[in-house]
Amino acid sequence: MKQSEFITRVFGSPYELCAEAAIQIVDEAAKAIYVRGKFTLVLSGGTTPKTVYQLLGTQYHEEVDWEKTFLFLGDERLVPLDHPESNFKMVKETLLNKISIPEQNIFRVNTDSTDAVKEYEDSIRAFFELQTGEYPHFDLVMLGLGEDGHTASLFPRNAALKEQSAIVTHVHIPQNELSERLTLTLPVFNNARKVVFLVTGRSKAKIVAEIYDDPECTYPARFIVPRDGEVYWYLDLDSSSLVSSECKLSP
Ligand code: 6PG
Repeated sequence: MKQSEFITRVFGSPYELCAEAAIQIVDEAAKAIYVRGKFTLVLSGGTTPKTVYQLLGTQYHEEVDWEKTFLFLGDERLVPLDHPESNFKMVKETLLNKISIPEQNIFRVNTDSTDAVKEYEDSIRAFFELQTGEYPHFDLVMLGLGEDGHTASLFPRNAALKEQSAIVTHVHIPQNELSERLTLTLPVFNNARKVVFLVTGRSKAKIVAEIYDDPECTYPARFIVPRDGEVYWYLDLDSSSLVSSECKLSP
């Protein structure tokens, strides 16, 4: 990795990392609303960001202008919205139930529909008023990292990774108990103004080190380097423990 591609921040604990991520969201919301009148935020699923969402829903809930904030999911598992593994359910319980945000500002995936992928893509296209070939320009995208190098639902060697024209694509992951998903595509993530990866825990250390130190690395997360934006990697001591020290220095 060229050091300048990632801006790295290492935190003493997962809680500190999440607290800083919540502050970052508050700051980005204020800036985007000041400059463009609205804030578009893509939330990640998984477990790591739960504390971020809880903080936003409690101590920071008055610091964000939710009327002008629009929430999207980077990926969703195609399970009912009340299923324990639904990303929407997690976001609802940690954040949406605690804040006062207009319903139309929440871009949920209609997982009951057989056309969920198209419906989600159409809703994003309509909101951003996109022409064919254009991608949304999200203000901030939160992402996680799986132990196999996946991010959102872009998995290694999966066909979804190659999608170049759609905004949303279906993902089938054989052998995964949550085998049917949808995800925003690589060109969409790489068109964002800012991307922040949140990665904690010893179990992610090896994969983080490969992403940072192996020039041949082909894990999906490695390909997320927005063309005109910035990518931050928020690591805790455990997840950063195998990265060579020069890479931990932010440019
Ligand atoms: C999902 C994700 C996924 C997640 C990583 C990290 O829906 O599964 O969005 O990409 O962010 O697997 O998950 P953890 O935070 O639980 O480690």
